[in-house]
Amino acid sequence: MNMRNTLPLASLLIVVGLAACDKEAPFRKVTYVTDVEPIVQQHCMECHVAGQDGAEKSGYLMDSYEAVMKGTKFGPVIVPDSSESSSLYLLVAGKADPSIQMPHGKTPLSAEQITTIRLWIDKGAVKD
Ligand code: HEC
Repeated sequence: MNMRNTLPLASLLIVVGLAACDKEAPFRKVTYVTDVEPIVQQHCMECHVAGQDGAEKSGYLMDSYEAVMKGTKFGPVIVPDSSESSSLYLLVAGKADPSIQMPHGKTPLSAEQITTIRLWIDKGAVKD
């Protein structure tokens, strides 16, 4: 009978369809290594490595995931799962005093980059 052949094919298509949906943006994993590190390397590292102004004044090194999570000499600037409690997010999003907006004295991050950092923190600030 024909049903014997068409039924498995139909269920296969449904499975493939569900797998494709899983890749949609709201469910996508956001990680430090894939999404955030390229932004940090391009916009933060020049001042936040040993010997540079940002690192010297705040104690904030940004040359590894561990350093980024460790924070400044006063403590962490990222609270996993809560971007609104994370001073790093508030600084790059322009929600803190303009005089301490990051990157310091440079063009702000794009809206897309700011969203990436917010999603990364709100999804747990995972490494990879
Ligand atoms: C041009 C240099 C420069 C760049 C680029 C820069 N910073 Fe900074 N950053 C500084 C300086 C200087 C301080 C110290 C500010 C102070 O304490 O007055 C600082 C301090 C900080 C602090 C600590 C603020 C606090 O609460 O004490 C954070 C968090 C921070 N930067 C994040 C970033 C992030 C994220 C980026 C990239 C998007 C970035 N910075 C790019 C120079 C820079």
